[in-house]
Amino acid sequence: MLPLRIRRYRPFLIGAFIILVLLYHVSQNSDWELSQSALYSPKKAPADSAAKDRLNVEYQPPQPPKPTSIAREKQTTTSAQPTPKKETGIRIPQLKTSNEVPGGFGLPTSAPTVGKAHDHSAAEESHVAVKLPDRPVPEEHVEPTSTKEHWQKPSEWFPVPKESIIKLPTGKPKPIPTVQFNFGEESPEAKEKRVARLNKVRAEAQRAWSGYKKYAWGHDELTPVTRISKDPFCGWAATLVDALDTLWIMGLREEFDEAVEYVKELDFTYSAHRSEIPVFETTIRYLGGFLGAYDVSGGEKTKAAYKILLDKAVELAEVLMSVFDTPNRMPILYYNWRPSFNENPKRASTRSGMAELGTLSMEFTRLAQLTGENKYYDAVARITNALEDLQNREDGTALPGIFPENIDASGCNRTAQAATNYDNLSDAGKQQVDDATDLDEEPQGYTAGTTVQDIQSGKDPLDLNGVTKRELNRRTPPPRSSVPEYQPPPWKGAKNQGPPRDAQGMPANWDCVPQGLVAGGWGSESYSMGGSQDSAYEYFPKQYLLLGGLEDKYRTMHEKVSAAVKKYLLFRPMAPGNPDILFSAKVTSYDHTDQKLNYEWEATHLTCFLGGMYGLGGKIFGSPEDVEIGRKLADGCAWAYEVMPTGIMPEYSMVLPCAKADDCQWNQTAWYNAIDTEAEWRDEQLKKWEVSHAEWVQEVKMLKKEHAEAEEAAAKARSEQEAKPKNTYQTGLNPGVHQGMQQDVDYHLTKRRLSEDDKIDVAKKVNKLEDELDLNNNIAGHGPQDQQQKPMSELLLPPEPEKPLSHEEFVEDRIKRENIPPGFVSLNDKRYILRPEAIESVFYYYRITGSPIWQDKGWRMFESVIAATRTDIAHSAIDNVAIASTSTSASTSTPTKDKDEDDNRKQTKPSFTDSMESFWLAETLKYFYLLFAEPDVVSLDEYVFNTEAHPFKRPT
Ligand SMILES: *[C@@H]1O[C@H](CO)[C@@H](O)[C@H](O)[C@H]1NC(C)=O
Ligand SMILES: *[C@@H]1O[C@H](CO)[C@@H](O)[C@H](O)[C@H]1NC(C)=O
Ligand SMILES: *[C@@H]1O[C@H](CO)[C@@H](O)[C@H](O)[C@H]1NC(C)=O
Repeated sequence: MLPLRIRRYRPFLIGAFIILVLLYHVSQNSDWELSQSALYSPKKAPADSAAKDRLNVEYQPPQPPKPTSIAREKQTTTSAQPTPKKETGIRIPQLKTSNEVPGGFGLPTSAPTVGKAHDHSAAEESHVAVKLPDRPVPEEHVEPTSTKEHWQKPSEWFPVPKESIIKLPTGKPKPIPTVQFNFGEESPEAKEKRVARLNKVRAEAQRAWSGYKKYAWGHDELTPVTRISKDPFCGWAATLVDALDTLWIMGLREEFDEAVEYVKELDFTYSAHRSEIPVFETTIRYLGGFLGAYDVSGGEKTKAAYKILLDKAVELAEVLMSVFDTPNRMPILYYNWRPSFNENPKRASTRSGMAELGTLSMEFTRLAQLTGENKYYDAVARITNALEDLQNREDGTALPGIFPENIDASGCNRTAQAATNYDNLSDAGKQQVDDATDLDEEPQGYTAGTTVQDIQSGKDPLDLNGVTKRELNRRTPPPRSSVPEYQPPPWKGAKNQGPPRDAQGMPANWDCVPQGLVAGGWGSESYSMGGSQDSAYEYFPKQYLLLGGLEDKYRTMHEKVSAAVKKYLLFRPMAPGNPDILFSAKVTSYDHTDQKLNYEWEATHLTCFLGGMYGLGGKIFGSPEDVEIGRKLADGCAWAYEVMPTGIMPEYSMVLPCAKADDCQWNQTAWYNAIDTEAEWRDEQLKKWEVSHAEWVQEVKMLKKEHAEAEEAAAKARSEQEAKPKNTYQTGLNPGVHQGMQQDVDYHLTKRRLSEDDKIDVAKKVNKLEDELDLNNNIAGHGPQDQQQKPMSELLLPPEPEKPLSHEEFVEDRIKRENIPPGFVSLNDKRYILRPEAIESVFYYYRITGSPIWQDKGWRMFESVIAATRTDIAHSAIDNVAIASTSTSASTSTPTKDKDEDDNRKQTKPSFTDSMESFWLAETLKYFYLLFAEPDVVSLDEYVFNTEAHPFKRPT
């Protein structure tokens, strides 16, 4: 049926395509998106592949309506949405079932930007569109909007047998060296200064809270400029829950009580905002938020009114526990909570973010301690065990001791499965596979989920969890009818619910060759202490503290991490004054070894937690060297704040590394070379320019001479003419003048490579001169004398070649335009989004050393941050930390080519980006406050902070 239909309408489609191209050429300003959608093609992949090629159409599965977008995602690869391929010509628009767009299919009912001239073709287009077959809508997404579908606890597919549940370690906590400095008496002056600062911090926190309360109460985040709200974290009042313990610590009890009252209303079985729960963010912000608030407000001895905090933690944890129900008990990190989906068995992703996988342990451990339920501890202990196995396994990671950014947590050995699948193929099948693999740029064999039928039916062999390299380019799920008959797995005979689905809702085959965690991705592995890895490392020493030192593996794991980070990642940046500071690089291995590594000398805000981690680990495990390394790391971030025009470190930047950490002299030449690696090329260009400029000077001289001669001839001709009776001249120009001009034109047109404009210019001048002379001939004495007297050579000069910038000029121009402080090579992401990591490490070093130097550093950070982020009602992330008011006075004498950056310079203040993430109140302001609070307020010897700055009580 389908191919026939396609053929019938092929003329229309081809016509439509031509019109599309014409439209594009006629008006590049018209709404391209609209033109595209208006001309979209069949919805199902035509069986006739030739027709498909002709139409340049790529099949895209229909999409369910997606709720609002996500703000702070550390990983995007697990999304069930196919990634649109950018280079494709015509795309099928996504199916919209909601009423938000009146025309449906992404088309408005009227097409305002398509002009009347295209009405005819528009009629043809809609004719084509109407005849196309319906799109299959996956049934799990069909949901009447009137009835709320709530999460229901599914029965487990892969339960842990009771006797195998890993229990919390028991016994008397081990003695652990103290973390905090032994603070003595405080002088009255010191106290006065400290308390004044403390009060200022609290006032700003109150301000942010009031803004939230007034404009965004019950929502996830306040938008601090537009004064509305947004809900990127399921809409369970993320800011409110995250800020609970901050309110308590700051003594804002009324606000705390009011917030606790609201907590009762939260319903974790439903979200109007997200169909997938981001497990990591939900755990650290919400679960951590409840537990921290419960612990600081009294814990087990708390007021009855605050017991709700623990109840809510349990309620939320019960929802989250389902993510561990996978064959290897590794968690699903983006959890589709809708019952119709949730009932099916799942497998963890082949691309799990390291941070997301490794940063669940403290929250679930604390919950297990508070409730006595070992199942919560079991859930995270299994992840630790798997990470320990990966860390210790020979050939486990490219940089032994630390983990790559992406982990394959599926538990299925793709290599082994591919081999057996291949062996089981017929010869023809093998041939087919060989051909397909040859074409693939990164042949990887077949994934665990692939069946022989899949291969023979042409299913994408690399599609395991719906996230594969190929999937990025081409996603063609098999038609529903070809899904193999479902066989219930042996461990769960009763639940026959149709074909099993993996985390992305794709059919999955549950038989696979098991394995532990392995590096995910294809070919390259990236290692850093930055986003998507950071907090996994932070949790090893912290988990040791939380367990009272009773689980030694957290210590050994931390010590291996610490050694590997020193060996591979830490470096000293080169900066004026030679500060003794450290940063942590990002390293990529392309061959799963540490032999040929690619380094990025980054200074990123997220990595700033590392100072605190080294300080804490160094103290509790008795390593003075680590404490010193932590100090240098904390100082690195403090330095990055101080040298920036706004006094705030950018989100992401590059610095210049020293070859040796113990011998590092500032070298401006080296800095310039790092900013501009094209120094040689630039000098060559300059030399070339010198030659061509000299030629130009010569040429100008010659032209002037020629023109002077021509002018002279013209003048002579005129005077001769004046001497004769006027009417004897009929033909206008004196032959001499004409000849001179013609020579000039010829010279330009042949010897010089003139631009079209220049040619026109020359021709115009010649015409004009002829006209003038004609005019003079006819109406003597009334010609435009001024123009006539202008030497024509002046108007005909070739343009002077533009002088290119030398290496030094180029670098200095860039430094000036972008406000790059000495030592930085590039400011890649200039935002500051109210992040806490730098002040977190400064706080640790104040509590560890007792030195008021750290309070002063923190205070300067605070003043800079408040000055740049304060809005009318709260605080907002900003777009550019490299703007200082002085930058407006920057000279404009240096040539600038980049218009954007020119405009940028006119900006005198960073712009607000209208975002106040929940960690502003939960973390940043809390650490600022604790830096100036009495040292026994949330002492590091009594509490341990989760990665969202929620303090959990350590066992005593
Ligand atoms: C996966 O299987 C291959 C082939 O059998 C084997 O060499 C490899 O060690 C396995 N990987 C893991 C992590 O078990
Ligand atoms: C290979 O094929 C044989 C016979 O069809 C079957 O018994 C066996 O399970 C298959 N092995 C795999 C790994 O698919
Ligand atoms: C500074 O750096 C340049 C370029 O790397 C190098 O040639 C020069 O020797 C360095 N100067 C000093 C004093 O180290």
